[in-house]
Amino acid sequence: HHTSCFSSFLHFFLLSGLALLGCCEGWKYFYSEDTMDYDHARKWCTENYTDLVAIQNQEEIEYLNKVIPRMKVYYWIGLRKIDGIWTWVGTKKPLVKEAENWASREPNNQKLGEDCVEIYIKRNTDQGKWNDELCTIKKHALCYQADCNNSSCSGNGVCEEKINNYTCRCHEGFFGPICQYTCSILHTPANGRMNCTHPFRNFNYNSSCEFDCNKGFIRKGVGTLRCTEFREWSALQPVCQASECNILHAPAYGSMNCFHPFKNFSYNSSCDFDCNKGFIRKGVGTLRCTESGKWSDLLPKCQACTSQPTLAHGRMNCSHPFGNFSYNSSCNFDCNDGFIRKGAKTLRCTEFGEWSGQTPACQASVCTSLTTPNHGSIKCSHPFGNFSYNSSCDFDCNKGFIRKGDGTVYCTESGKWSTLQPECQAVTCSILKTLDHGTMTCSHPFGNFTYTTNCTFECKEGFLLIGNDVTECTASGKWSLPVPTCQKYEQSLTSGRCASFLFSFIIL
Ligand SMILES: *[C@@H]1O[C@H](CO)[C@@H](O)[C@H](O)[C@H]1NC(C)=O
Ligand SMILES: *[C@@H]1O[C@H](CO)[C@@H](O)[C@H](O)[C@H]1NC(C)=O
Ligand SMILES: *[C@@H]1O[C@H](CO)[C@@H](O)[C@H](O)[C@H]1NC(C)=O
Ligand SMILES: *[C@@H]1O[C@H](CO)[C@@H](O)[C@H](O)[C@H]1NC(C)=O
Ligand SMILES: *[C@@H]1O[C@H](CO)[C@@H](O)[C@H](O)[C@H]1NC(C)=O
Ligand SMILES: *[C@@H]1O[C@H](CO)[C@@H](O)[C@H](O)[C@H]1NC(C)=O
Ligand SMILES: *[C@@H]1O[C@H](CO)[C@@H](O)[C@H](O)[C@H]1NC(C)=O
Ligand SMILES: *[C@@H]1O[C@H](CO)[C@@H](O)[C@H](O)[C@H]1NC(C)=O
Ligand SMILES: *[C@@H]1O[C@H](CO)[C@@H](O)[C@H](O)[C@H]1NC(C)=O
Ligand SMILES: *[C@@H]1O[C@H](CO)[C@@H](O)[C@H](O)[C@H]1NC(C)=O
Ligand SMILES: *[C@@H]1O[C@H](CO)[C@@H](O)[C@H](O)[C@H]1NC(C)=O
Ligand SMILES: *[C@@H]1O[C@H](CO)[C@@H](O)[C@H](O)[C@H]1NC(C)=O
Repeated sequence: HHTSCFSSFLHFFLLSGLALLGCCEGWKYFYSEDTMDYDHARKWCTENYTDLVAIQNQEEIEYLNKVIPRMKVYYWIGLRKIDGIWTWVGTKKPLVKEAENWASREPNNQKLGEDCVEIYIKRNTDQGKWNDELCTIKKHALCYQADCNNSSCSGNGVCEEKINNYTCRCHEGFFGPICQYTCSILHTPANGRMNCTHPFRNFNYNSSCEFDCNKGFIRKGVGTLRCTEFREWSALQPVCQASECNILHAPAYGSMNCFHPFKNFSYNSSCDFDCNKGFIRKGVGTLRCTESGKWSDLLPKCQACTSQPTLAHGRMNCSHPFGNFSYNSSCNFDCNDGFIRKGAKTLRCTEFGEWSGQTPACQASVCTSLTTPNHGSIKCSHPFGNFSYNSSCDFDCNKGFIRKGDGTVYCTESGKWSTLQPECQAVTCSILKTLDHGTMTCSHPFGNFTYTTNCTFECKEGFLLIGNDVTECTASGKWSLPVPTCQKYEQSLTSGRCASFLFSFIIL
């Protein structure tokens, strides 16, 4: 593999005066066609590649001895004596005993200044071994170029050089040949905030992100995500959803016009309300969905002529061109028999949402007032008002009096009583005539010879009263006592008066 790679590049390196050994990735080896002292060789290597070769192990030595051509002089490597100690120039680390690879009887430290090291490539003896030399001697430079740089393992691992390639020892939580695998990059959610901490690199292992939503938005999903060792976030990224208010509909006889900045009927959605002609809005004109998911106010209503007319003792006949008791509804009012309309015959619901006038009333027809009759009593019922339609009065007469007329009278629908009010007339007794040969004196409290008429009788001189001298007309229409008579006094002419007195005394 290496040789085939090497051959394919050979032509280019010979022309350019350089040589590339190895291919592909990892440590690559280069040597100069020109010879130069140690310091220039190092400069040539560091400026064009990484440094003079630093021998890591036996495998590398064998590899170099195999692929690098034999020259008249050998090659400087990155080992020299500093302050009396053999030191790797690249790392400034001293050469350890186990890593020593000196040729036989080396280092001989013969002359002063034999402080630099060459490698015997393809020498007859001691192939690949080291020899200490004067640094000012001109030799070829043998350089390497490291593959590892700070980004070789994506910054997530330790890069280790290998011949022709490198390997990455990834930090915990990182995977892949160059530790490139990690979690996806998260973005701040719309209408929310993200706060991440990254112990390694952005959105890498153990990165953790907290999510919050702005006012009016609700987080859907978990609040904190962590980038796990499985290169995945511990959960799906949450989203911020606008708080939802309930869905509104246009009110009856009105319209609604909404604007939804986020979602339908959600935070900051605002709806304007209008009412159809003749309807009046009761409530606010605009509702806004607040951050708590509640509407800022109650849904308005479109109303017209809210006070529906009612008519007692009558009939209402309404027509509704636009809806129940609303714009242009019109009502006719008629009163039942016995009732009279007070007020408008017709009302109309105007475009201002109000009735054109006051609701009329049906008032019962009124009859004249009745009074208690003389010598009697009255008892009335008034279903619709004093002495009004359907009022009825019962009449009674006192003892000794008789009712003339119907006992009950009604107030008719036309406002007239069914009959005349009855009267109480005193009971009559037979008319008494004055006595023959005597006198009759009567008192008539209630009329000629009627109830309680009291008559007293007297006889002329010389006549004797036979019977009772008083009688009274009773409640039954009969005299309490029979009418007396006057008889001529004949038994004693001489002592007529005296005898008469005596006689009457005896009779009494
Ligand atoms: C290598 O470095 C030397 C200086 O040390 C320089 O003159 C030369 O041009 C470089 N060669 C290349 C190919 O960069
Ligand atoms: C680092 O090394 C990789 C290969 O190992 C190479 O592709 C990349 O260009 C190098 N980056 C820098 C800045 O040298
Ligand atoms: C590479 O990383 C080392 C140590 O982390 C640092 O000192 C150096 O500046 C870095 N080099 C570049 C080119 O970023
Ligand atoms: C070199 O190593 C890297 C990292 O391990 C790997 O991705 C790449 O395939 C290797 N290249 C070759 C040619 O082996
Ligand atoms: C992010 O979170 C850290 C730790 O929880 C906290 O100290 C910092 O104030 C937060 N920053 C913001 C902008 O929320
Ligand atoms: C990653 O986080 C877990 C849990 O917080 C912790 O136990 C672990 O030590 C962390 N790993 C590294 C490499 O920081
Ligand atoms: C929002 O409302 C409109 C109109 O009512 C409708 O067409 C659309 O589907 C709704 N969108 C959602 C997400 O419900
Ligand atoms: C919601 O509406 C209020 C008032 O109009 C405004 O101040 C606020 O910025 C809006 N919120 C968003 C997230 O647009
Ligand atoms: C109500 O009025 C309408 C039109 O004015 C009429 O046709 C209808 O007969 C009336 N109905 C009643 C019960 O009076
Ligand atoms: C009218 O009122 C009746 C009873 O109150 C109701 O059933 C009907 O839905 C209403 N009609 C309209 C158009 O509002
Ligand atoms: C009573 O009788 C007298 C004489 O007959 C008469 O003039 C008078 O009108 C009567 N009175 C009544 C109340 O009938
Ligand atoms: C009737 O008249 C007489 C005489 O005036 C009187 O003495 C008597 O008490 C009266 N009777 C009645 C019942 O009024």
